[in-house]
Amino acid sequence: MPATCVIGLQWGDEAKGKIVDLLTEQHDIVVRYQGGSNAGHTVVTGGQTFKLSLIPSGIFRPRVQCVIATGVVVNPASLLDEIDGLAARGIAVGKNLMISDRAHVIFPWHIEEDRLLDRCSDGELIGTTMRGIGPCYRDKVGRSFAVRFGDMFRSDFSDRVNNIVAFKNRMLAGMGDGAGRDLLDAGEIHAQYSGYARRLRDYVADTTAYLLDAVEAKRNILFEGAQGSLLDIDHGTFPFVTSSNSSGVGVASGSGVPARYVTKAIGIVKAYTTRVGGGPFPTEQDNEIGQHIRDVGNEYGTVTRRPRRCGWFDAVAARYTARLGGIDVLAVMLLDVLSQLPELQICVAYELDGRRIEHFPSHVDDLRRVKPIYETMPGWQQDVTGIRRRADLPNKANAYLNRLGGLVGRPVEIVSVGPDRQQTILS
Ligand code: IMP
Repeated sequence: MPATCVIGLQWGDEAKGKIVDLLTEQHDIVVRYQGGSNAGHTVVTGGQTFKLSLIPSGIFRPRVQCVIATGVVVNPASLLDEIDGLAARGIAVGKNLMISDRAHVIFPWHIEEDRLLDRCSDGELIGTTMRGIGPCYRDKVGRSFAVRFGDMFRSDFSDRVNNIVAFKNRMLAGMGDGAGRDLLDAGEIHAQYSGYARRLRDYVADTTAYLLDAVEAKRNILFEGAQGSLLDIDHGTFPFVTSSNSSGVGVASGSGVPARYVTKAIGIVKAYTTRVGGGPFPTEQDNEIGQHIRDVGNEYGTVTRRPRRCGWFDAVAARYTARLGGIDVLAVMLLDVLSQLPELQICVAYELDGRRIEHFPSHVDDLRRVKPIYETMPGWQQDVTGIRRRADLPNKANAYLNRLGGLVGRPVEIVSVGPDRQQTILS
């Protein structure tokens, strides 16, 4: 199994961290390749709960090399907080972490821009995580005001910060409550980031060369996707998306490893659906069912603590993203959250303008107008958190899982029935 990728097939928060953590022991290298500290993954290990944003979940196993690859946007302050937080709990981070010298750096102006510009042209909120992710990717694509990790170690770093700050102050002065004053102090920012760079210097490397050597040497690599495929900048529910390729297509561009090396793609879904932030969500249950799922599943953002919007499993959306990601098998997470419900609904198709459609619409306005066509299945109404074998699950739970797999067109290989590593059923 030289290269495996783990991809969320919904709108993020599919509990990918747990699966990555489980798979890590079979891999030598774990790679984050897109997104930034907008992602949050929770790993429960040894009875302790860890919340990470940038550092790959592989960090809990010292023999595993963790890589933050080129496609990630890195806020050095957040990264240092994570490193210090792990160290305080006895997890040392040393040579087992590598950061790409090509990864782009998030600066205070990006966070300011996120705050001032989190809207579509019609005023509707995207509801970003306010971590400066979109503005940093915007500067990367724009090139003129971008700073890559390796740039912080060059002699012209101070000049670059001065030039960028002069421009950004003029820009921010024309926006919202930034008007009329200089928001940013170049000297202060340069001093602060030089300090971060000094502390992070030993982690910085050419990760593209490292990963190409590793795949050619047939080392086992695990690619850890952040967010979910429906938030993909190109293939998601644009403009209510994140600013990177969070579907399977991002592995190659973000890491530099050609997609042909990926030998297994695991698609992660929840047994239901959630979404944080704005944008259409056809199967949303803005009612007591949604509230029940939120309460039982503790559906509040890892990063922002925002309550997540909750709804039924959408097989139209998951089939689309499973195909997009070249997914081989599914991991169905949080099955236990549905255990108390007497009846479950699965969206098997949409109705759009009186016609049944089975494809996922490309325009957000069409997605807003679709009506889900549901199939109802009986709930199992039995605690499943102690079950460790597929055959021991209630028949109704197995029927539900089989129907999900059948509709998505991929076999269900992993089922999660609780947050702990042990609470996992492997087929
Ligand atoms: P941004 O990534 O902070 O720009 O946010 C853009 C959209 O993606 C917003 O709707 C966020 O709520 C959503 N988003 C970003 N990261 C995550 C995540 O890790 N889980 C779920 N939603 C996310």
